[in-house]
Amino acid sequence: MRLLVTGGAGFIGSAFVRRQLGRDPHRSVVVLDKLTYAGNLANLEPVRDAPGYRFVRGDITDETLVDDLAANTDAIVNFAAESHVDRSIESPDAFIETDVRGTYLLLEAARRHQHLRYLQVSTDEVYGHRETGSAQEDDPIAPRSPYAASKAAADLLVNAYHVTYGLHTSITRATNTFGPYQYPEKIIPLFVTNALDNDLLPLYGDGLQVRDWLHVDDHCAAIELVLERGSAGTTYNVGGGNEMTNVDLTRLILAELERPESLVRRVPDRPGHDRRYSVDATRIRGLGWSPGGSFRDELAETIRWYVAHPEWWRPIKSGAYLDFYRRQYAERLAAGTSLE
Ligand code: NAD
Ligand code: DAU
Repeated sequence: MRLLVTGGAGFIGSAFVRRQLGRDPHRSVVVLDKLTYAGNLANLEPVRDAPGYRFVRGDITDETLVDDLAANTDAIVNFAAESHVDRSIESPDAFIETDVRGTYLLLEAARRHQHLRYLQVSTDEVYGHRETGSAQEDDPIAPRSPYAASKAAADLLVNAYHVTYGLHTSITRATNTFGPYQYPEKIIPLFVTNALDNDLLPLYGDGLQVRDWLHVDDHCAAIELVLERGSAGTTYNVGGGNEMTNVDLTRLILAELERPESLVRRVPDRPGHDRRYSVDATRIRGLGWSPGGSFRDELAETIRWYVAHPEWWRPIKSGAYLDFYRRQYAERLAAGTSLE
Protein backbone atom coordinates (compact mmCIF):
# COMPACT_ATOMS: atom_id res chain seq x y z
CA MET A 1 0.00 0.00 0.00
CA ARG A 2 1.40 3.41 -0.97
CA LEU A 3 0.79 5.77 1.95
CA LEU A 4 0.14 9.48 2.19
CA VAL A 5 0.83 10.43 5.80
CA THR A 6 -0.43 13.91 6.62
CA GLY A 7 1.06 15.50 9.74
CA GLY A 8 3.89 12.96 9.51
CA ALA A 9 6.49 15.35 10.95
CA GLY A 10 4.70 15.58 14.31
CA PHE A 11 5.03 13.36 17.35
CA ILE A 12 2.81 10.36 16.49
CA GLY A 13 2.88 10.74 12.70
CA SER A 14 6.67 10.60 12.62
CA ALA A 15 6.69 7.50 14.83
CA PHE A 16 4.29 5.90 12.35
CA VAL A 17 6.51 6.86 9.40
CA ARG A 18 9.66 5.58 11.12
CA ARG A 19 7.82 2.34 11.86
CA GLN A 20 6.69 1.83 8.23
CA LEU A 21 10.05 2.63 6.68
CA GLY A 22 11.94 0.78 9.42
CA ARG A 23 10.19 -2.39 8.27
CA ASP A 24 10.58 -1.78 4.55
CA PRO A 25 12.66 1.24 3.45
CA HIS A 26 11.33 0.82 -0.10
CA ARG A 27 7.69 1.18 0.89
CA SER A 28 6.21 4.33 -0.66
CA VAL A 29 5.53 6.77 2.18
CA VAL A 30 4.83 10.39 1.26
CA VAL A 31 4.68 12.79 4.19
CA LEU A 32 2.65 15.96 3.73
CA ASP A 33 3.27 18.38 6.59
CA LYS A 34 2.97 22.14 6.98
CA LEU A 35 5.75 22.19 9.58
CA THR A 36 3.85 24.29 12.08
CA TYR A 37 5.52 24.96 15.44
CA ALA A 38 4.84 21.26 16.23
CA GLY A 39 6.24 19.78 13.01
CA ASN A 40 9.94 18.97 13.02
CA LEU A 41 12.05 17.38 10.30
CA ALA A 42 14.45 16.14 12.98
CA ASN A 43 11.70 13.62 13.87
CA LEU A 44 12.10 12.10 10.41
CA GLU A 45 15.90 12.21 10.30
CA PRO A 46 16.21 8.43 10.90
CA VAL A 47 14.34 7.71 7.63
CA ARG A 48 15.66 10.61 5.57
CA ASP A 49 17.56 8.32 3.18
CA ALA A 50 14.97 5.55 2.87
CA PRO A 51 14.31 5.01 -0.86
CA GLY A 52 10.51 4.96 -0.43
CA TYR A 53 10.35 8.19 1.61
CA ARG A 54 9.37 11.58 0.23
CA PHE A 55 8.67 14.75 2.19
CA VAL A 56 6.35 17.47 0.89
CA ARG A 57 6.02 20.67 2.84
CA GLY A 58 2.43 21.82 2.45
CA ASP A 59 -0.95 22.38 3.98
CA ILE A 60 -3.81 19.87 4.03
CA THR A 61 -6.09 22.79 3.19
CA ASP A 62 -4.25 23.22 -0.15
CA GLU A 63 -6.81 21.48 -2.35
CA THR A 64 -4.68 21.22 -5.50
CA LEU A 65 -1.66 19.84 -3.71
CA VAL A 66 -3.73 17.33 -1.78
CA ASP A 67 -5.48 16.20 -4.93
CA ASP A 68 -2.16 15.66 -6.76
CA LEU A 69 -0.78 13.59 -3.90
CA ALA A 70 -4.00 11.61 -3.44
CA ALA A 71 -3.95 10.55 -7.10
CA ASN A 72 -0.77 8.54 -6.47
CA THR A 73 -1.53 6.85 -3.20
CA ASP A 74 -3.54 3.92 -1.88
CA ALA A 75 -4.28 5.23 1.59
CA ILE A 76 -4.36 8.52 3.45
CA VAL A 77 -3.54 8.41 7.14
CA ASN A 78 -4.44 11.78 8.60
CA PHE A 79 -2.42 12.80 11.66
CA ALA A 80 -2.35 16.49 10.69
CA ALA A 81 -4.00 18.61 13.35
CA GLU A 82 -3.60 21.36 15.82
CA SER A 83 -3.32 19.10 18.83
CA HIS A 84 -2.86 21.08 22.06
CA VAL A 85 -5.92 21.80 24.23
CA ASP A 86 -4.41 24.89 25.90
CA ARG A 87 -3.64 26.47 22.53
CA SER A 88 -7.23 25.77 21.41
CA ILE A 89 -8.49 27.65 24.44
CA GLU A 90 -6.21 30.60 23.69
CA SER A 91 -6.91 30.69 19.95
CA PRO A 92 -9.38 28.23 18.34
CA ASP A 93 -9.14 29.51 14.76
CA ALA A 94 -6.35 27.24 13.48
CA PHE A 95 -8.15 24.24 14.98
CA ILE A 96 -11.23 24.88 12.87
CA GLU A 97 -9.12 25.50 9.79
CA THR A 98 -6.87 22.44 10.03
CA ASP A 99 -8.81 19.90 12.05
CA VAL A 100 -12.23 20.54 10.46
CA ARG A 101 -11.66 22.14 7.05
CA GLY A 102 -8.44 20.21 6.46
CA THR A 103 -10.20 16.91 7.13
CA TYR A 104 -13.05 17.95 4.83
CA LEU A 105 -10.61 18.67 1.98
CA LEU A 106 -8.78 15.37 2.46
CA LEU A 107 -12.14 13.58 2.32
CA GLU A 108 -13.01 15.46 -0.86
CA ALA A 109 -9.73 14.26 -2.39
CA ALA A 110 -10.56 10.71 -1.30
CA ARG A 111 -13.98 11.12 -2.92
CA ARG A 112 -12.34 12.03 -6.23
CA HIS A 113 -10.03 9.00 -5.96
CA GLN A 114 -12.47 6.34 -4.84
CA HIS A 115 -9.87 3.56 -4.64
CA LEU A 116 -8.37 5.22 -1.56
CA ARG A 117 -8.59 4.09 2.03
CA TYR A 118 -8.90 6.92 4.51
CA LEU A 119 -7.89 6.64 8.15
CA GLN A 120 -8.62 9.49 10.54
CA VAL A 121 -6.45 9.66 13.65
CA SER A 122 -8.83 10.91 16.30
CA THR A 123 -8.91 11.09 20.06
CA ASP A 124 -10.73 9.90 23.17
CA GLU A 125 -11.42 13.58 23.94
CA VAL A 126 -14.38 13.57 21.53
CA TYR A 127 -16.41 11.61 24.12
CA GLY A 128 -15.94 14.34 26.71
CA HIS A 129 -15.00 13.44 30.24
CA ARG A 130 -16.21 10.34 32.10
CA GLU A 131 -16.63 10.35 35.86
CA THR A 132 -17.09 6.57 35.79
CA GLY A 133 -17.02 3.76 33.24
CA SER A 134 -15.42 3.75 29.79
CA ALA A 135 -16.63 5.16 26.47
CA GLN A 136 -17.62 2.74 23.73
CA GLU A 137 -17.36 3.66 20.08
CA ASP A 138 -21.10 4.07 19.58
CA ASP A 139 -21.57 6.30 22.62
CA PRO A 140 -22.62 9.88 21.89
CA ILE A 141 -19.80 12.34 21.47
CA ALA A 142 -19.71 15.32 23.84
CA PRO A 143 -16.52 17.32 23.31
CA ARG A 144 -15.82 20.12 25.79
CA SER A 145 -12.79 22.07 24.47
CA PRO A 146 -12.37 23.78 21.10
CA TYR A 147 -9.72 21.16 20.26
CA ALA A 148 -12.00 18.24 21.14
CA ALA A 149 -14.90 19.86 19.27
CA SER A 150 -12.77 20.30 16.15
CA LYS A 151 -11.75 16.64 16.25
CA ALA A 152 -15.36 15.56 16.85
CA ALA A 153 -16.54 17.62 13.87
CA ALA A 154 -13.91 15.91 11.74
CA ASP A 155 -15.07 12.47 12.91
CA LEU A 156 -18.64 13.32 11.95
CA LEU A 157 -17.50 14.33 8.46
CA VAL A 158 -15.52 11.10 8.06
CA ASN A 159 -18.56 9.01 8.96
CA ALA A 160 -20.82 11.10 6.71
CA TYR A 161 -18.47 10.55 3.75
CA HIS A 162 -18.56 6.80 4.36
CA VAL A 163 -22.36 6.70 4.51
CA THR A 164 -23.04 9.16 1.70
CA TYR A 165 -20.26 8.47 -0.79
CA GLY A 166 -19.24 4.93 0.18
CA LEU A 167 -15.66 5.90 1.05
CA HIS A 168 -13.56 3.25 2.78
CA THR A 169 -12.95 5.17 6.01
CA SER A 170 -11.96 4.26 9.54
CA ILE A 171 -11.36 6.25 12.70
CA THR A 172 -9.08 5.54 15.63
CA ARG A 173 -9.74 7.26 18.97
CA ALA A 174 -6.72 6.87 21.18
CA THR A 175 -5.87 8.01 24.68
CA ASN A 176 -3.00 10.22 25.88
CA THR A 177 0.08 9.15 24.01
CA PHE A 178 3.69 9.41 25.22
CA GLY A 179 7.18 8.55 24.02
CA PRO A 180 10.22 10.12 22.33
CA TYR A 181 9.94 13.21 20.08
CA GLN A 182 6.81 14.63 21.77
CA TYR A 183 6.65 18.42 21.63
CA PRO A 184 7.38 19.80 25.11
CA GLU A 185 4.01 21.50 25.56
CA LYS A 186 2.33 18.22 26.60
CA ILE A 187 2.60 17.22 30.24
CA ILE A 188 5.23 14.45 30.10
CA PRO A 189 7.91 16.12 27.94
CA LEU A 190 7.13 19.51 29.55
CA PHE A 191 7.58 18.23 33.09
CA VAL A 192 10.61 16.08 32.22
CA THR A 193 12.49 18.87 30.46
CA ASN A 194 11.52 21.46 33.09
CA ALA A 195 12.66 19.15 35.89
CA LEU A 196 15.97 18.53 34.10
CA ASP A 197 16.54 22.30 34.19
CA ASN A 198 15.26 22.55 37.79
CA ASP A 199 12.38 24.72 36.53
CA LEU A 200 8.92 24.63 38.13
CA LEU A 201 6.31 22.05 37.07
CA PRO A 202 2.88 23.77 36.65
CA LEU A 203 0.29 21.23 37.84
CA TYR A 204 -3.24 22.36 36.98
CA GLY A 205 -5.88 22.56 39.73
CA ASP A 206 -5.89 19.76 42.28
CA GLY A 207 -3.89 17.45 39.98
CA LEU A 208 -6.48 14.69 40.40
CA GLN A 209 -7.55 14.61 36.74
CA VAL A 210 -7.10 11.16 35.23
CA ARG A 211 -5.54 10.30 31.88
CA ASP A 212 -5.01 6.84 30.34
CA TRP A 213 -1.43 6.62 29.05
CA LEU A 214 -0.62 4.82 25.80
CA HIS A 215 2.88 4.34 24.42
CA VAL A 216 3.36 5.84 20.96
CA ASP A 217 4.53 2.48 19.52
CA ASP A 218 1.28 0.85 20.68
CA HIS A 219 -0.71 3.74 19.20
CA CYS A 220 1.05 3.31 15.84
CA ALA A 221 0.59 -0.48 15.90
CA ALA A 222 -3.14 0.09 16.38
CA ILE A 223 -3.33 2.50 13.44
CA GLU A 224 -1.40 0.06 11.24
CA LEU A 225 -3.76 -2.78 12.17
CA VAL A 226 -6.90 -0.74 11.50
CA LEU A 227 -5.47 0.36 8.17
CA GLU A 228 -4.84 -3.24 7.16
CA ARG A 229 -7.74 -5.07 8.78
CA GLY A 230 -10.29 -2.52 9.99
CA SER A 231 -13.86 -2.59 8.68
CA ALA A 232 -15.01 0.31 6.55
CA GLY A 233 -17.09 2.91 8.35
CA THR A 234 -15.89 1.73 11.74
CA THR A 235 -14.38 3.52 14.72
CA TYR A 236 -11.83 1.87 17.01
CA ASN A 237 -10.99 3.04 20.52
CA VAL A 238 -7.36 2.58 21.49
CA GLY A 239 -6.61 2.69 25.21
CA GLY A 240 -3.38 2.06 27.08
CA GLY A 241 -5.07 0.68 30.22
CA ASN A 242 -2.88 2.95 32.36
CA GLU A 243 -5.24 5.39 34.08
CA MET A 244 -3.43 7.67 36.46
CA THR A 245 -3.90 11.05 38.15
CA ASN A 246 -1.65 13.88 37.03
CA VAL A 247 -0.20 14.24 40.51
CA ASP A 248 0.82 10.57 40.59
CA LEU A 249 2.34 10.89 37.13
CA THR A 250 4.26 13.98 38.27
CA ARG A 251 5.63 12.10 41.28
CA LEU A 252 6.80 9.23 39.06
CA ILE A 253 8.64 11.68 36.78
CA LEU A 254 10.34 13.41 39.72
CA ALA A 255 11.34 10.09 41.29
CA GLU A 256 12.84 8.84 38.03
CA LEU A 257 14.85 12.05 37.67
CA GLU A 258 15.72 12.25 41.38
CA ARG A 259 14.28 15.75 41.63
CA PRO A 260 12.41 17.15 44.68
CA GLU A 261 8.63 17.65 44.92
CA SER A 262 9.34 21.28 45.79
CA LEU A 263 9.61 21.85 42.00
CA VAL A 264 5.85 21.31 41.64
CA ARG A 265 3.48 24.31 41.68
CA ARG A 266 -0.26 23.86 41.86
CA VAL A 267 -1.47 26.53 39.45
CA PRO A 268 -4.93 27.84 38.43
CA ASP A 269 -6.77 25.18 36.46
CA ARG A 270 -7.28 24.84 32.69
CA PRO A 271 -10.76 26.27 31.87
CA GLY A 272 -13.27 23.46 31.33
CA HIS A 273 -10.63 20.91 32.34
CA ASP A 274 -11.87 17.38 31.57
CA ARG A 275 -11.67 15.33 34.76
CA ARG A 276 -11.15 11.86 33.37
CA TYR A 277 -10.93 10.08 30.03
CA SER A 278 -11.46 6.36 29.66
CA VAL A 279 -12.21 4.19 26.64
CA ASP A 280 -13.29 0.61 26.18
CA ALA A 281 -10.84 -0.93 23.68
CA THR A 282 -12.61 -4.29 23.30
CA ARG A 283 -13.25 -3.76 19.58
CA ILE A 284 -9.62 -3.26 18.55
CA ARG A 285 -8.50 -6.02 20.89
CA GLY A 286 -10.81 -8.22 18.80
CA LEU A 287 -8.59 -7.43 15.78
CA GLY A 288 -5.61 -8.77 17.73
CA TRP A 289 -4.17 -5.54 19.17
CA SER A 290 -3.04 -5.13 22.75
CA PRO A 291 -0.67 -2.63 24.35
CA GLY A 292 2.84 -3.97 24.95
CA GLY A 293 5.01 -3.24 27.96
CA SER A 294 4.61 -1.95 31.51
CA PHE A 295 3.76 1.74 31.87
CA ARG A 296 6.45 2.39 34.47
CA ASP A 297 9.18 0.83 32.31
CA GLU A 298 8.02 2.73 29.21
CA LEU A 299 7.81 6.00 31.14
CA ALA A 300 11.33 5.47 32.51
CA GLU A 301 12.61 4.66 29.02
CA THR A 302 10.89 7.77 27.63
CA ILE A 303 12.41 9.96 30.34
CA ARG A 304 15.85 8.52 29.57
CA TRP A 305 15.32 9.47 25.92
CA TYR A 306 14.77 13.14 26.84
CA VAL A 307 17.79 13.00 29.17
CA ALA A 308 19.90 11.64 26.31
CA HIS A 309 18.59 13.99 23.62
CA PRO A 310 18.82 17.62 24.75
CA GLU A 311 19.94 18.42 21.18
CA TRP A 312 16.34 17.61 20.15
CA TRP A 313 14.38 19.60 22.77
CA ARG A 314 16.67 22.51 23.68
CA PRO A 315 16.32 24.27 20.30
CA ILE A 316 12.52 23.90 20.57
CA LYS A 317 12.43 25.55 23.99
CA SER A 318 13.43 28.96 22.67
CA GLY A 319 11.94 31.84 20.66
CA ALA A 320 8.19 31.44 20.00
CA TYR A 321 8.02 28.56 22.49
CA LEU A 322 9.12 30.87 25.30
CA ASP A 323 6.48 33.45 24.27
CA PHE A 324 3.83 30.71 24.48
CA TYR A 325 5.24 29.52 27.79
CA ARG A 326 5.10 32.99 29.32
CA ARG A 327 1.53 33.54 28.09
CA GLN A 328 0.37 30.20 29.50
CA TYR A 329 2.30 30.06 32.71
CA ALA A 330 3.84 33.32 33.98
CA GLU A 331 0.75 34.54 35.87
CA ARG A 332 -0.28 31.05 36.87
CA LEU A 333 3.11 30.24 38.35
CA ALA A 334 3.14 33.54 40.22
CA ALA A 335 -0.22 32.52 41.79
CA GLY A 336 0.91 28.91 42.35
CA THR A 337 1.27 27.05 45.62
CA SER A 338 3.50 24.17 46.62
CA LEU A 339 2.35 20.54 46.51
CA GLU A 340 2.51 19.82 50.26
P1 NAD B 1 1.57 17.10 16.85
O1 NAD B 1 1.03 18.43 17.23
O2 NAD B 1 2.85 16.62 17.45
O3 NAD B 1 1.75 17.02 15.26
C1 NAD B 1 0.84 17.57 14.36
C2 NAD B 1 1.51 17.63 12.99
O4 NAD B 1 0.56 18.12 12.04
C3 NAD B 1 2.71 18.58 12.94
O5 NAD B 1 3.78 17.97 12.26
C4 NAD B 1 2.19 19.79 12.16
O6 NAD B 1 3.20 20.48 11.46
C5 NAD B 1 1.20 19.12 11.24
N1 NAD B 1 0.16 20.05 10.76
C6 NAD B 1 -0.59 20.91 11.51
N2 NAD B 1 -1.42 21.62 10.71
C7 NAD B 1 -1.21 21.17 9.44
C8 NAD B 1 -1.78 21.50 8.18
N3 NAD B 1 -2.75 22.42 8.08
N4 NAD B 1 -1.34 20.84 7.10
C9 NAD B 1 -0.36 19.90 7.19
N5 NAD B 1 0.23 19.57 8.35
C10 NAD B 1 -0.20 20.18 9.47
O7 NAD B 1 0.39 16.07 17.14
P2 NAD B 1 0.44 14.57 17.66
O8 NAD B 1 0.45 14.56 19.12
O9 NAD B 1 1.47 13.81 16.90
O10 NAD B 1 -1.03 14.09 17.20
C11 NAD B 1 -1.23 13.58 15.89
C12 NAD B 1 -2.70 13.25 15.74
O11 NAD B 1 -3.10 12.33 16.74
C13 NAD B 1 -3.61 14.47 15.89
O12 NAD B 1 -4.63 14.37 14.94
C14 NAD B 1 -4.17 14.33 17.31
O13 NAD B 1 -5.46 14.90 17.38
C15 NAD B 1 -4.22 12.83 17.47
N6 NAD B 1 -4.07 12.30 18.83
C16 NAD B 1 -3.05 12.72 19.63
C17 NAD B 1 -2.91 12.16 20.90
C18 NAD B 1 -1.79 12.59 21.83
O14 NAD B 1 -1.82 12.23 23.01
N7 NAD B 1 -0.79 13.31 21.37
C19 NAD B 1 -3.81 11.18 21.34
C20 NAD B 1 -4.85 10.79 20.49
C21 NAD B 1 -4.96 11.35 19.22
O1 DAU C 1 -6.55 12.22 25.31
C1 DAU C 1 -5.89 12.37 24.09
C2 DAU C 1 -5.39 13.79 24.00
O2 DAU C 1 -4.30 13.88 24.91
C3 DAU C 1 -4.96 14.19 22.59
O3 DAU C 1 -6.08 14.18 21.76
C4 DAU C 1 -4.33 15.58 22.62
O4 DAU C 1 -3.82 15.89 21.33
C5 DAU C 1 -3.20 15.61 23.62
O5 DAU C 1 -2.72 16.92 23.73
C6 DAU C 1 -3.68 15.13 24.99
O6 DAU C 1 -4.57 16.09 25.60
P1 DAU C 1 -4.46 16.48 27.15
O7 DAU C 1 -5.04 17.79 27.36
O8 DAU C 1 -4.95 15.35 28.00
O9 DAU C 1 -2.83 16.48 27.27
P2 DAU C 1 -1.85 17.48 28.04
O10 DAU C 1 -0.50 16.85 28.01
O11 DAU C 1 -2.00 18.87 27.60
O12 DAU C 1 -2.41 17.39 29.53
C7 DAU C 1 -2.46 16.14 30.22
C8 DAU C 1 -3.02 16.40 31.60
O13 DAU C 1 -2.06 17.19 32.33
C9 DAU C 1 -4.29 17.22 31.59
O14 DAU C 1 -5.15 16.79 32.66
C10 DAU C 1 -3.83 18.65 31.87
C11 DAU C 1 -2.61 18.43 32.77
N1 DAU C 1 -1.54 19.45 32.63
C12 DAU C 1 -1.08 19.72 31.38
C13 DAU C 1 -0.12 20.68 31.18
C14 DAU C 1 0.39 20.99 29.79
C15 DAU C 1 -1.03 20.09 33.74
O15 DAU C 1 -1.44 19.81 34.90
N2 DAU C 1 -0.08 21.04 33.55
C16 DAU C 1 0.39 21.38 32.32
O16 DAU C 1 1.26 22.28 32.23
